[in-house]
Amino acid sequence: MQASMENHALVAFASKHGATAEIAERIGQVLRQAGLPVDVLPVERVGDLALYQAVVLGSAVYAGQWRKEAIRFLEAREAELAQRAVWLFSSGPTGEGDPVELMNGWRFPEAQRPIAERIQPRDIAFFHGALVEERLSLAERLIVKGVKAPLGDFRDWEGITSWAVGVADALKQGGS
Ligand SMILES: Cc1cc2nc3c(=O)[nH]c(=O)nc-3n(C[C@H](O)[C@H](O)[C@H](O)COP(=O)(O)O)c2cc1C
Repeated sequence: MQASMENHALVAFASKHGATAEIAERIGQVLRQAGLPVDVLPVERVGDLALYQAVVLGSAVYAGQWRKEAIRFLEAREAELAQRAVWLFSSGPTGEGDPVELMNGWRFPEAQRPIAERIQPRDIAFFHGALVEERLSLAERLIVKGVKAPLGDFRDWEGITSWAVGVADALKQGGS
């Protein structure tokens, strides 16, 4: 008997320093634990989307923008994404409190809003990120210092996990 592609999910991510990659891995792990076959891949390594019924796409945020490779992926795959169950997430803010409040109301990159509206994602999440000083370039350190962004790992693993459980539940109910 042929394996069904019905529930295959893709978690695609864009990460510069690794924090978003680990969030994507965690989401993939939750989906796998729910019995769904999952690929977790950097966006630039994603092949044919025909394989997947659902796509979770996330990017780190730098200066209010998604990473270029994530924007490229959204633009190039818009038509296919619009035919699938899609969840989007961004990650970035450090410090305690709601990410949207920490980033003064920012939820999703302005320039990609029209694409997101056409794709009609099931949800758009905004997760805390991590700023690990040793991983940053000198220029990045100066920017981070200039905007007084708190250093440290503020990723909310419980919040990420429960969001991913919601994705898994929706997919197991047939993605509706
Ligand atoms: C130079 C610089 C600019 C940043 N700008 C933003 C920003 O505009 N909004 C935000 O939420 N986070 C911002 N961040 C925080 C990053 O998004 C956060 O460190 C994230 O976890 C990085 O993910 P990555 O390790 O996957 O690249 C910035 C970080 C750096 C170093």
